[in-house]
Amino acid sequence: MRRAGGAGGRAVGGSLRAAPGAAPLLALSQVSAASVERLQTGIGELDRVLGGGLVPGSLVLLGGSPGIGKSTLTNMALGNLAGTGCKTLYVSGEESAEQVRLRAERLSPNALEVPVLAETDLDAVLDAIATHAPAVCVVDSVQTLRCSELSGAPGSVGQVREVAAQIMELAKQRQIAVVLVGHVTKDGALAGPRVLEHLVDCVLQFEGERERPYRELRALKNRFGSTNEAGLFEMRQGGLVEVLDASARFVAEATRAPGSVVLAAMEGSRPLLVEVQALVADSELEQPRRVVSGLDRNRLALVLAILGRHGGVGVGGRDVFVNVVGGVRVDEPGVDLAIALAVASAARGVALRGSPCGCFGELGLTGELRWVGHPERRLAEAARHGLEGIVAPAGSGEGAHEAATLREALSAVFPTSRTRPASLAA
Ligand SMILES: Nc1ncnc2c1ncn2[C@@H]1O[C@H](COP(=O)(O)OP(=O)(O)OP(=O)(O)O)[C@@H](O)[C@H]1O
Ligand SMILES: [Mg+2]
Repeated sequence: MRRAGGAGGRAVGGSLRAAPGAAPLLALSQVSAASVERLQTGIGELDRVLGGGLVPGSLVLLGGSPGIGKSTLTNMALGNLAGTGCKTLYVSGEESAEQVRLRAERLSPNALEVPVLAETDLDAVLDAIATHAPAVCVVDSVQTLRCSELSGAPGSVGQVREVAAQIMELAKQRQIAVVLVGHVTKDGALAGPRVLEHLVDCVLQFEGERERPYRELRALKNRFGSTNEAGLFEMRQGGLVEVLDASARFVAEATRAPGSVVLAAMEGSRPLLVEVQALVADSELEQPRRVVSGLDRNRLALVLAILGRHGGVGVGGRDVFVNVVGGVRVDEPGVDLAIALAVASAARGVALRGSPCGCFGELGLTGELRWVGHPERRLAEAARHGLEGIVAPAGSGEGAHEAATLREALSAVFPTSRTRPASLAA
């Protein structure tokens, strides 16, 4: 049984009470800040999303839907770390040690070197961590551990909070980097109390469509790095493989059919070309469907309104489906123009000029096309993959086909520059 000592003792709930007046105060300039040596997991995309690797003593929460590959990713990372002589520990509350071994077998020989503890009792887990003293520990998952002092079932708000708080206390004391794997709810949010997200240093979300091979890792919160970064992986027999040439793949796969456009997006500091597809079909429902995948639904609603009002393309009572191909999620304003062009192309049944046609830009409510960040990187990425005449907002720079408004953008991409408001407006 491990219990925290320390001046003020600790209360259940994980809060530390310092003795009043005990600690001398220091100005920040007097606080020693030795540069932190980060632990490289050997998975480039994961290290980049973390901000350069795991920080000793930090707590990372990794969330994702069932079967997305959380255990695979953490097993691989621990295997790589173990291979470099780093002390690791994998705590599995969900699977038996045999099951963990079966997975490790298909990953790498190093993954088999990682010590595993199949346990759900929090005290036993804390004891093992304290005794084994790993530099990096994975707890898979935080919802399966149970603190015997609390009455709730594992995964309940009180339990999850207490489990995380006690693990954090030990991790900070011993400078152990801990990755807590967490479940997500049906709508994709991290399960468990919101306080968990406040407590940890870094929240990573692993997402993608289970049927598709691509998986995306994003930082939703990071005390030691940017939250703009995203890493792309592909699930294969031998585990998760980093996708370093994602743009090339997505451009090669782009259909060039009506309803298809290539978006020059930014994934954090990295440009990425992705195909956005739309389908506009007659609806049998009173309230037509607006279905998105890889996008914010409200953004589609907004773009449809702007398209109808300022682009002369109304979809009225028809169903509209918009999909970012490959299971990638795009969360940036530059996607507006891609949605608009894909929907316009689908509504008209006409492929866009210069297929694959590339674009980026944010739409304003008055139909203007607004500048978005890093146009030069987006254009360079497009040029690298053979896309020319990218339709982009004014001021984007050389190589772009600049348009000031949605209407100008539409006339740039349709083979004949007519706009047909009367026939298409609902
Ligand atoms: N032999 C295999 N070849 C290719 N992919 C596999 C193989 N075995 C498993 N997978 C993939 O790995 C996924 C499971 O990965 P993993 O166990 O890491 O997910 P998880 O996020 O930890 O799931 P859970 O939430 O159930 O713990 C499967 O959904 C499948 O896509
Ligand atoms: Mg798992």
